[in-house]
Amino acid sequence: MTKQFHDHVLDDAALDQIFREARTYNGWLNQDVSDAQIEAIWNLMKMAPTSANMQPVRIVWARSRAARDKLAALASEGNKAKIRAAPVTAIVGYDIDFHEELPWLFPHTDARSWFEGDEKAREQAAFRNGSLQGAYLILAARALGLDCGPMSGFDNARVDAEFFADAPRHRSNFICSVGYGDPASIFARSPRPAFGKFNRIA
Ligand SMILES: Cc1cc2nc3c(=O)[nH]c(=O)nc-3n(C[C@H](O)[C@H](O)[C@H](O)COP(=O)(O)O)c2cc1C
Repeated sequence: MTKQFHDHVLDDAALDQIFREARTYNGWLNQDVSDAQIEAIWNLMKMAPTSANMQPVRIVWARSRAARDKLAALASEGNKAKIRAAPVTAIVGYDIDFHEELPWLFPHTDARSWFEGDEKAREQAAFRNGSLQGAYLILAARALGLDCGPMSGFDNARVDAEFFADAPRHRSNFICSVGYGDPASIFARSPRPAFGKFNRIA
C-alpha cells in the first residue's frame, strides 16, 4: 500500500513549533535544562541520517557555572552575556577520526577502510555530517519544547584547547545555547526567500 502524505504530515502546531514560529534567542528565562532533557535531545538527533551512519558529532554541554564562564570568556563580545545567561550551551564539535567507530556504527561493511589514510576526506565528511547533526540538535530541541541560540562567534582553537583537551582530534564547529528563550530577546525576523529565489526543479 502506498503511504498517503496526508496521513503523516505534522499538524500546524508542530510545524509552527519546530519551524515557523521558532526563533533564535539572545536572552534566557531563569529555568534549568535537566540531564534528562539533554539526553532526550541526543536520543532524537542521533536517529537522523549521517553518511554511513558515521555520527561524527561530539558535543560538550557547558552547563556548570564554571563551564559557562569559561566558554563565555572565549566568545565574541556580543555572545558573552548570552552564554552566561543560558542554562546550557552545547559545543557542537566533530571527530576527525570518526572512522575508528565505523566497525560498530556501520557493521555490515568495512567502511573504516574507506577513510583510513585520507585525513582530508575525513575532515570533509566530519564537517559535513557534524554540521547536519548540529542542525538536527536544533530541531530536536525545538520538538521537545526548548529554544535554541546558535552562535559561531567564538575562538574555535581556544575552545578546542579548553573543552576538547582530552580529545585532540575533536574540533568545535559552532555552539548552541539551549533553554527557555526570553521572548523580549529576539531580533526582528529577517526576510526568508520565496521558493523561486534559490530553488529550481530540474
Ligand atoms: C551556525 C550559526 C551561527 C550563528 N552565529 C551567531 C553569532 O555568533 N552571534 C549571534 O548573535 N547570532 C548568531 N547566529 C544567529 C543567526 O543570526 C539567526 O539564527 C538567524 O538570523 C535567524 O534568526 P531567527 O531564527 O530568529 O529567524 C548564528 C546562527 C547560526 C545557525
